[in-house]
Amino acid sequence: MCDSKMPVHEIRTIRAKTTVYLGARAITKMDAIMADLSGRGIGKVLCVTGRGSYRSTGAWDHVRAAFDRYGVDHVLYDRITPNPTVDSVDEAVEMGRDFGAQAVVAIGGGSPIDAAKSAAILLQYPDRDARDLYELRFVPDRAVPVVAVNLTHGTGTEADRFAVVSLPEKDYKPAIAYDCIYPAYAIDDPALMTGLSADQTRFVSIDALNHVIEAATSKAASPYTVLLARETARLVAAYLPQALAHPGDLTARYHLLYASLIAGIAFDNGLLHFTHALEHPLSASGPIWPTAWACP
Ligand SMILES: [Fe+2]
Repeated sequence: MCDSKMPVHEIRTIRAKTTVYLGARAITKMDAIMADLSGRGIGKVLCVTGRGSYRSTGAWDHVRAAFDRYGVDHVLYDRITPNPTVDSVDEAVEMGRDFGAQAVVAIGGGSPIDAAKSAAILLQYPDRDARDLYELRFVPDRAVPVVAVNLTHGTGTEADRFAVVSLPEKDYKPAIAYDCIYPAYAIDDPALMTGLSADQTRFVSIDALNHVIEAATSKAASPYTVLLARETARLVAAYLPQALAHPGDLTARYHLLYASLIAGIAFDNGLLHFTHALEHPLSASGPIWPTAWACP
């Protein structure tokens, strides 16, 4: 099927390690996700978000309504900033522990999702904090379930095992990678991304392209990562200009979002190298344009 015939208004399920719902209005799948979680006895959830986009996109209304319909209680930590720190993760974890959270729902771009993955581990390790996690003082093998409501088409973190959090006192921005933090579910809904600015659209799309350039040329590259890289590059070249010219174009956002998803899967397999090795030390020392878009 050619790109233009793809039914972007129909929600498709993409099963990687994470079950991803892709398509306009995929946010409505929060009901199915909450049905599954509540059926597994999960009744208390920690929500982790940035300061505004979780509301301005309309995602929060859907998420909160799904909580209500399935009798799931929640607390909200809404103070994650770009390049999140171990201190903000610890604040979110403290809120989750006090509440007795059994799962974490992230709503946002890479920063809230990565902070949420980190919190999901620490909710299973009551004697540990985020510095222990990011200074590799222990190797976790469990986390509470993570649901990622993705609001940017760049990082791919909604479907990979990575998280990045900064240690401000050391100007250090390490990544962790553990199987236990693959989100159980992710929502990739292009209708939530039409409000991204032109610069945000450029930065996140270039991030996705960088992921595959590295994943296809690393020592861990495979035919799979090369395949995903070719398709990501094709889609970004075709649809980034279209999204910049028409920010509300759902077809363009859909294909850029799919590209960022498969780019995330690509570097989950093929890993990363030079660009990200440069970016992490630079952005760890402060918010330097344009690296405020958290990523592995
Ligand atoms: Fe990245």
